[in-house]
Amino acid sequence: MIRLGVNIDHVATLRNARKETHPNPLQAANLAIKYGANSITIHLREDRRHINDKDLINISRNKKIPLNLEIACTNEMLKIALKYKPNFICIVPEKRKEITTEGGLNLNKNKQKLKNYLNILNKNKIRTSLFINSNLSDIKIAKSLGTKCIEIHTGKISNKIKKGINYGSELIKIKKSIKLAKLLDLEVHAGHGMDFKTAKILSKLDNIDEFNIGHFIVGESIFWGFKNTITKFKNILK
Ligand code: PXP
Repeated sequence: MIRLGVNIDHVATLRNARKETHPNPLQAANLAIKYGANSITIHLREDRRHINDKDLINISRNKKIPLNLEIACTNEMLKIALKYKPNFICIVPEKRKEITTEGGLNLNKNKQKLKNYLNILNKNKIRTSLFINSNLSDIKIAKSLGTKCIEIHTGKISNKIKKGINYGSELIKIKKSIKLAKLLDLEVHAGHGMDFKTAKILSKLDNIDEFNIGHFIVGESIFWGFKNTITKFKNILK
């Protein structure tokens, strides 16, 4: 069974729209786990546009919540990671003006920095992951940098599926990437832009260990509820 990581960033987006305390990301994290999520993902962005430091403190304190923290490869975030010790870290690229994480990391440009970063996190027994595009060269580099997992950016294929555009070539790229990652003994995760349809298609591929899904879950929950939406994803990933 593929694990489901529920990304609750947009519970914080909704809360922040009113600069109040509701809806509370900690409550969302607890409920998501109760309803069957295997882990909770939060992205602490440099600009704190959704999840903030207090959310991280509250969620990381609750040891019943397996926590996957997404961070950019900066000194500030490394200090925070070592202080709050989430179970998992996924390193993501971050641009100030982007609406969401638009693509995978530029591994070639940041090799040494990522290598040092991963080394420190691995030594601290935090499971490490790199958010990357589905190409074979990036997977080889990711392995050489010392990550334990890769997360394949599924934004492109998700968009194609949603728009009804032929996604065959994208699917082949993802399949080849998974195959190589497994040969290199990397755990494979997938995330970004997924809805029920994308999850159904990608869950048929062999060897994906974990999906991380956020925006669609929070949006769909408005209509059908958090529990129903998570349960539906869990059934797809069976
Ligand atoms: N995985 C990673 C690494 C991400 O950065 C994000 C978005 O923050 C997601 C998964 C979830 O994407 P979405 O909110 O589009 O489901």
